[in-house]
Amino acid sequence: MRRNLVVGNWKMHGSRASNGLLLSGLKEAGPWSADVAVCVPFPYITETALALTGTNVSFGAQDCSAHEQGAFTGEVSSAMLADIGCRYVIVGHSERRAYHAESDQLVADKAKAALAHGVTPIVCVGETLAEREAGQTEAVVKRQLSAVIHTLTHCIGEIVVAYEPVWAIGTGLTASPAQAQSVHAVLRTLLAAATQKASSMRLLYGGSVKPDNAAELFAQADIDGGLIGGAALKAADFSAICRAAG
Ligand code: PGA
Repeated sequence: MRRNLVVGNWKMHGSRASNGLLLSGLKEAGPWSADVAVCVPFPYITETALALTGTNVSFGAQDCSAHEQGAFTGEVSSAMLADIGCRYVIVGHSERRAYHAESDQLVADKAKAALAHGVTPIVCVGETLAEREAGQTEAVVKRQLSAVIHTLTHCIGEIVVAYEPVWAIGTGLTASPAQAQSVHAVLRTLLAAATQKASSMRLLYGGSVKPDNAAELFAQADIDGGLIGGAALKAADFSAICRAAG
């Protein structure tokens, strides 16, 4: 069956000194039986890779370009991420959709670029509070994921999906396990119409996952781990969440 996956999304946090402490804390706390990865700011990827040598914790980035290479100042290609050993890249995080005007199609193109280089995209979808209150949750996540399904076609089974309700990110508000499960079930049904691999795909939940709510979320039928923001910055909290996923 599916093996749970827990991914730390460090966002724009950290320094060489604090990362070193965090990573050594994780090394001491592991290994876990779930798959574990950290997606760190670009400048720290290589040092993170070195620090994680000999562990089974994978590493990755938080964004990539949709372009292959060329005159795109400031962008980082998925070929570069593959070149330095990244296993994962987060694409379409709601912060990028909101602050960098990333469209559903751009997110899909980024996922395609990542897969072309063997980097697994973790594609984020999720509704805002206004959309949830307007009863649009299903329509929004289906629209977001459909763009990726149409762009990746037969490769769709290779991605990881993260359902992150925007209203739950960094707010301390968590979707209840039942709320999260019902959206995950919608996502898996949509994937099942596109690929026979749907039942083996990992669908992560993200949004204020903490040590005290992780186990109940991960116990849901269609929740296969988490994408963790704030709690991924504390070794003890992140380790406890990884344990809850194992
Ligand atoms: P949070 O962030 O755990 O701090 O809510 C999750 C995310 O944005 O990936």
